[in-house]
Amino acid sequence: MKNIQLIGIVGAGQMGRGIAQFAAQTGFQVILFDAFKNSLDFGHNFIKTQLDKGAEKGKWSADDAKAAFGKISVTLEMSDLKNCDLVVEAATEKKDLKLDIFKKLDEIVKDGAILASNTSSISITEIAAVTKRPQVVAGMHFMNPVPVMKLVEGIRGLETSDETFNTVAAVSEKMGKTFVRAQDYPGFAVNRILMPMINEAVYALYEGVASAKDIDTAMKLGTNQPMGPLELADFIGLDTCLAIMNVLHDGLADTKYRPCPLLRQYVAAGRYGRKNGKGFHIYESK
Ligand code: CAA
Repeated sequence: MKNIQLIGIVGAGQMGRGIAQFAAQTGFQVILFDAFKNSLDFGHNFIKTQLDKGAEKGKWSADDAKAAFGKISVTLEMSDLKNCDLVVEAATEKKDLKLDIFKKLDEIVKDGAILASNTSSISITEIAAVTKRPQVVAGMHFMNPVPVMKLVEGIRGLETSDETFNTVAAVSEKMGKTFVRAQDYPGFAVNRILMPMINEAVYALYEGVASAKDIDTAMKLGTNQPMGPLELADFIGLDTCLAIMNVLHDGLADTKYRPCPLLRQYVAAGRYGRKNGKGFHIYESK
């Protein structure tokens, strides 16, 4: 197994900043990279706020919060990731963007380092194939919100080596997460199951089976889910849900995965869910 001390994170958005915080709190040195100063500053400040809030709530001490924050450096230059032992890419879920990032990381990051992606649906094998080191590329799929959710879904691309997969499993476990192993097929394990459930909830709404509120209440109280499926879709982002359904539909070529027309319509209307205040439900604060 590889010795991982310095972790680079690409993207200071919702997922990247959560991974950076967790990695620092569990003893790793972290370099957080984002190409945009606003995002980087926002992400860095958000981590500080989360660490301070946790200390106020008594989840950890103020000294531990300070020490964790001190382990995180930030940069606007991807080249600063060159000495990382592991880089976790958590950029926007767009294939071209991710392929471009991996081509660059392959040029920049030292030989032997592991390159992981937090993608929720893009093929790890395809991402790995744009690098000259596909054996050290793997998926590390964290769930949102990262500090709360206990899972990392590990995805093994066709060429991922045992050493790489065992190392990302060990890093995830050191971060206090449970690691499950999935093969690189569309949706992996989580979204192969979660997204059809959400899509079916949208069909139930589309066909007038029940209101959005009642569908969510039924599933929350009837199946003990913390959020109903439509509320969860809003939380994930309806554009993301549609993108993942398209990956399932295209990749598995089965009509049972066809995205509901109502989901397409909401996305076309710019109703993306909680992030812009309007989805299946309306939110006062984003
Ligand atoms: N960041 C950090 N911490 C957060 C948080 C966030 N965004 N949101 C909530 N929390 C923390 C709170 O601080 C609180 O912590 P303490 O108990 O220690 O004080 C705890 O979570 C509970 O929060 P709340 O009481 O405010 O709210 P809640 O009880 O309603 O829980 C929730 C909120 C944790 C989000 C819960 O509704 C939940 O678990 N929802 C389901 C989330 C889920 O399924 N995520 C996976 C989505 S799928 C995915 O991410 C992968 C993909 O590819 C699409």
